[in-house]
Amino acid sequence: MQSILFVCLGNICRSPLADGIANKIAREHDLELHIDSAGTGEWHVGEAPCDNAIKIAAQNGIDISGLRARTLHRHDPDTFTHVVAMDRQNKKDLESLGYENIYLIGDYGGYGGADVPDPYFFDGFSGFEKVYEMLDRTVRDFLKKEGLWS
Ligand code: 4NP
Repeated sequence: MQSILFVCLGNICRSPLADGIANKIAREHDLELHIDSAGTGEWHVGEAPCDNAIKIAAQNGIDISGLRARTLHRHDPDTFTHVVAMDRQNKKDLESLGYENIYLIGDYGGYGGADVPDPYFFDGFSGFEKVYEMLDRTVRDFLKKEGLWS
């Protein structure tokens, strides 16, 4: 089975949103995909996504409140066929840990390789609205372009 691991820094804002969006698409279109998310950092391990991420997801019909943050696991490189970084620093970190099959989500959806901005420290709720819109477009395009949704 094809499988996707979405990766950001804290695993409480961006990658849980990407995870929720991809899961919704997979459910609605009967795609056989295993989807998960993780952070490169350890600060928030075991926590639910941040309140604003839960809120913007809920406004779009997606419940991510049951997700719990985790870091990368030793077996992730062997488990996932696609590892998707939210920004270029995440991608660098994954490369230095020896991951292969790494994709940058900003390379999809017409965003020209842009980082998904980390909304945790800036911009209040409007930052989350922008991030949600970017992830909705890029995740859809990623699934299509990589042949995971035909
Ligand atoms: P994320 O955002 O990478 O989108 O989950 C972050 C949230 C919290 C922290 C870093 C990034 N933090 O360092 O606390």
